[in-house]
Amino acid sequence: MKKALLFVDNLNQASKWKKLFSRNGWEVKTTSSLTQFLSLLHGIKPELSLVEKSMPLQEEDPVFEILLQESQNHSLLMVSPKLEKAYLWDTFLDVIHPHDKNKVSFWIREKERRPWETKPKSRTFTDNEFQSLSQCIEKEFAFVVQEKSHFHWKKDLASRMKVLGFSHVQDYLQFLKTSPYRKEELLKLFHRLTIPETTFFRTKSHFEALREKIVPALLAKEGPSPTLKIWSCGCSTGEEAYSLAILMEELKENYSFDYSILATDINYGYLKAAKKGAYPLRSLRNLSLQQRKRFFVIKGNQFLVRPSLKEKIVFDHFNINSREKYFDPSRWEEFHIIFCENVLIYFSPPRIEEIIQKFYRLLKDKGVLFLGYSESLLHISHSFQSCSFDDKVFYYQKAFLPQPEKKEEDAKVSPPSLLSSSSSLSSPTCSLKKSSPLSSILNHDGKSKIAEILSISFGYDIIDSLSKPLCQKGEEVEINKDWEIFLEMDGAMRKGDFICFKRGVEKIFGHPEGKSRLLELWVAHLRAGQYVFVEGVLEVFRSSMPNHPERFYLEGLFHQSQNQDDKAKECFEKALYVDPYFVPAHFQMGEYYAKKGNIHRAKISFSQVLKFFSLKKIDKILTLEGNWKKEELYKICKQHTFKP
Ligand SMILES: C[S@@+](CC[C@H](N)C(=O)[O-])C[C@H]1O[C@@H](n2cnc3c(N)ncnc32)[C@H](O)[C@@H]1O
Repeated sequence: MKKALLFVDNLNQASKWKKLFSRNGWEVKTTSSLTQFLSLLHGIKPELSLVEKSMPLQEEDPVFEILLQESQNHSLLMVSPKLEKAYLWDTFLDVIHPHDKNKVSFWIREKERRPWETKPKSRTFTDNEFQSLSQCIEKEFAFVVQEKSHFHWKKDLASRMKVLGFSHVQDYLQFLKTSPYRKEELLKLFHRLTIPETTFFRTKSHFEALREKIVPALLAKEGPSPTLKIWSCGCSTGEEAYSLAILMEELKENYSFDYSILATDINYGYLKAAKKGAYPLRSLRNLSLQQRKRFFVIKGNQFLVRPSLKEKIVFDHFNINSREKYFDPSRWEEFHIIFCENVLIYFSPPRIEEIIQKFYRLLKDKGVLFLGYSESLLHISHSFQSCSFDDKVFYYQKAFLPQPEKKEEDAKVSPPSLLSSSSSLSSPTCSLKKSSPLSSILNHDGKSKIAEILSISFGYDIIDSLSKPLCQKGEEVEINKDWEIFLEMDGAMRKGDFICFKRGVEKIFGHPEGKSRLLELWVAHLRAGQYVFVEGVLEVFRSSMPNHPERFYLEGLFHQSQNQDDKAKECFEKALYVDPYFVPAHFQMGEYYAKKGNIHRAKISFSQVLKFFSLKKIDKILTLEGNWKKEELYKICKQHTFKP
């Protein structure tokens, strides 16, 4: 049995410690007299002695010195109630903290020499160790530790280990994996990783969309005097929830309704601040003078939220990743509006998908979901309909409402103002008639014949890649069908039959490689000034996929071809707003800034290209200049990023 000698000057604590040590297989002696403790030290030769004084021991304290000297041959553990709470690791010192965790804190001081260990101190994480820790966090909270926070976090971890008394990363990792207190420690680490950054009316345009469009529409749907239910999920220190309340109060002047807000966060500290509702002037920078007067009272240098506004909000602890029920549904039922801005960014895609599904279930029909600027559902969920306001703000609405089919006359592509007079579509060409199936005129050299027909049909040479079949099944019939679609589309455009043209585009999108081939074709048309086809495809995007990044990207390329650089840039920005990982738009932004001489911004954009290329496994992107392969792009981006 291992021997422990405990000095505890509070008898209540003494019995707790004793029980704990005994339970863990230690033979224990306790005393509350320091003299006795010191004299016993030699007699019982403990492997561990523990000192807990109600007053913390100071390093210069003579008692401290004596203790260190007296305990030469065993480990000494000093515990102070005044210093920060920490957990002892059972396999580290074979003791587990018994105390009321909210009241008592430890100060652990190891003796230099620990009898069972001689390893030198090492609190620096290797990449593998760090990855192992990140995996623990991810497993527990589905939280992906962002690369940008690695450096800062590694330093933070070293100080955390010091507080806990761990000298070796491996010990700490072991603790995080096996200790009964692992969850609490992981939560602490997780709190250190969460960022409270927020402000009142942070994403102004989202609040404008609510004011101008969404709330009026929701109220119209709900009938007389409804109560709008709103959830600020990941509310941090409360600014988002209070902003929503301010907006609702202002809207109540024009509409008859009531509202209630649930605001949740995982971090108790942030929630406490949120409930307090006291903010410095700096946080109120997005509020008008009138709003400050109406919704706050000044106390010292703080602005306190008025109680009338506070009472509209319930602040509650909630881990968005918990698999339990979110809250008492009988109280909250379903929400009209959910704000979950700048929270999902930390989570792994499968978990985001799970959360989004939950949001979906918790929203009322036509309810809306707002995510942060750099968060997008594009590759995550198809259950929401993405909507825009003012062609800029994006949010997600429950229930996909198919766009009503346009009437044929409306649907015709109105002759675009950009229509080039040299358009081949207005000049007679030897195009195929829709009624003549392509397969019937194929010769043994089917593919090249198709390319030839297409060239004639579209009036110029279509880029090489188009002579490859869309669907490489080795069966001519399949190949022919693919090309037939293009030809059908061509025919449709000639007749101004937009519906048929649109159907063609949608069919092509059904092919695994269809979209990229169509885009190649589109760029080829743009380069050749064939604007009818260009506009036709854009029109399909606008009507069927209004908030798709490709739509904005193509519009950007179009403006670029017209030398309208700033308009083009605006479109590329929109593409990135919808999908921050949309590599081609990053590339174009880099080109734009490089052209404008803003090398710093250009470098940032090109670095994004380099980063996302590998992430998204993209191997080429389409620009006006050509269909760049990964290697060529790498060269360009590297050149830009490494330029002094
Ligand atoms: C950057 S703040 C965003 C605050 C606010 N939504 C905004 O956009 O201004 C992120 C917040 O998400 C919270 N958070 C992170 N993970 C969470 C989780 N699993 N459950 C609930 N809240 C979480 C953090 O504590 C933090 O307060």
